[in-house]
Amino acid sequence: MAAGQETVLDEYAFLVSETDEKGIIRFANDDFCKIAEFSLDELIGQPHSKVRHKDMPKKAFKSLWDTIQKGEVWTGYVKNATKSGGYYWVFATIYPFESCDGSKGYLSCRRKPSKEEITSIQEVYKLWNKEEGK
Ligand SMILES: Cc1cc2nc3c(=O)[nH]c(=O)nc-3n(C[C@H](O)[C@H](O)[C@H](O)COP(=O)(O)O)c2cc1C
Repeated sequence: MAAGQETVLDEYAFLVSETDEKGIIRFANDDFCKIAEFSLDELIGQPHSKVRHKDMPKKAFKSLWDTIQKGEVWTGYVKNATKSGGYYWVFATIYPFESCDGSKGYLSCRRKPSKEEITSIQEVYKLWNKEEGK
């Protein structure tokens, strides 16, 4: 995928990743790796901001972290960068969890958003970026 190009998810794509409490990637499924264009080895141990796209406002991630750190589920739209400089949109649901061994972390499950959803959220993010001086 060339730089600046959008990768549109297919209807059945389901991108999953798991992080520790600090947002360090512990796992990503095949769909996530394929769309992000990274191998699992390239992702594990890296901060999740590795796939952050410059168009994402800080406010979106503040809402994400404020919500999951309270132990609540966050849902929202995220524009992510691919390894080759492209991008893709997802609708993400992030769950806080505690495993039976006591380790805590977060699980993100992502699906394709509709074109209409992307158009609406782009307007919101444009406004937030303006507020942030971007
Ligand atoms: C489970 C989980 C999944 C995340 N997924 C993404 C993601 O796909 N893209 C992204 O940019 N940030 C994601 N984040 C948020 C990042 O941890 C980070 O806060 C964000 O990229 C902003 O980077 P910064 O905190 O360095 O400003 C995720 C966080 C968690 C806990």
